[in-house]
Amino acid sequence: MSSVTVRVPAKVNVQLSVGPLREDGFHDLVNVFHAVSIFDEVAAKESESITVAVTGDWADQVPVDDENLAIRAARALAKHAGRGYGADLVIRKAIPVAGGMAGGSADAAGALVACNELWGLGLPVEDLMEIAADLGSDVPFSLMGGTALGTGRGERLTELPTAGTFHWTFATAHGGLSTPRVYAECDRLRAAAMAEVPWPEPDADLVAALRAGDPHALGRRLSNDLQPAALTLRPALATTLEAGRRLGALGAIVSGSGPTCAFLAEDAAHATRLARAIPESAPTRTTTAAHGPTPGATIL
Ligand code: C5P
Repeated sequence: MSSVTVRVPAKVNVQLSVGPLREDGFHDLVNVFHAVSIFDEVAAKESESITVAVTGDWADQVPVDDENLAIRAARALAKHAGRGYGADLVIRKAIPVAGGMAGGSADAAGALVACNELWGLGLPVEDLMEIAADLGSDVPFSLMGGTALGTGRGERLTELPTAGTFHWTFATAHGGLSTPRVYAECDRLRAAAMAEVPWPEPDADLVAALRAGDPHALGRRLSNDLQPAALTLRPALATTLEAGRRLGALGAIVSGSGPTCAFLAEDAAHATRLARAIPESAPTRTTTAAHGPTPGATIL
């Protein structure tokens, strides 16, 4: 095997309930992940050392040094296998960078699957999941895909049953938001409000809406505890959410830590209409119609 290409989906969180700040600096979550059809591709080629290059939309905003999550993933896998393997990684980027859609996590998951194959390691997915959890809270879900309940930091996953296909529109913004900064702002707002932070619990109505494939019910139950923090840091996102609501979106939320906004549509045609019309009244970088759930990291 001289070259392997892996396709990895973006995610939106249909429920993101953030518990109290833990001693390790993370928050316990109830994080309902849903994989959607915006994909990065990670290609791995035989090489002496581990390198990365990035092409496509957003390429200029991705670090190609030791910060790059795909490089860190390939190194962690080589270490796990106990040998100095090499790979030239090429990432074709379509998932927004620092956009709240797990783009970095997708690239890490893609690198794990591609290098496992390229190096002939044959590690089972359970091993990849463990390495993934050390790389970042969202990386295990990027491997798994579909729709899943994440607890702990978000890395402990249980698949959730869904029916049919949900149609979405995503509006990206100019400039990203740093995830640690958004969590810190969430803590700051909560401290200022002196509000008790409840232990996060899965929303039974949301889980039922996913199981039934009912976009109207799902749209009413979308929730994201990071949204007030993202809106404080980026007030213009309120205009974007409002534009989608006025155009009949069934639900409108900030995706994860933002600044991408997610709109649930009635069907594929409605998603396309939202993607065309939202930029007419809101400051977006791009809009894309997509659908979910989609599979996790897959070898092409
Ligand atoms: O795990 P990951 O590297 O993606 O997390 C990035 C940052 O997001 C963490 O350093 C932390 O500030 C915040 N985070 C958190 N609680 C979580 C997940 C992430 O506070 N459950």
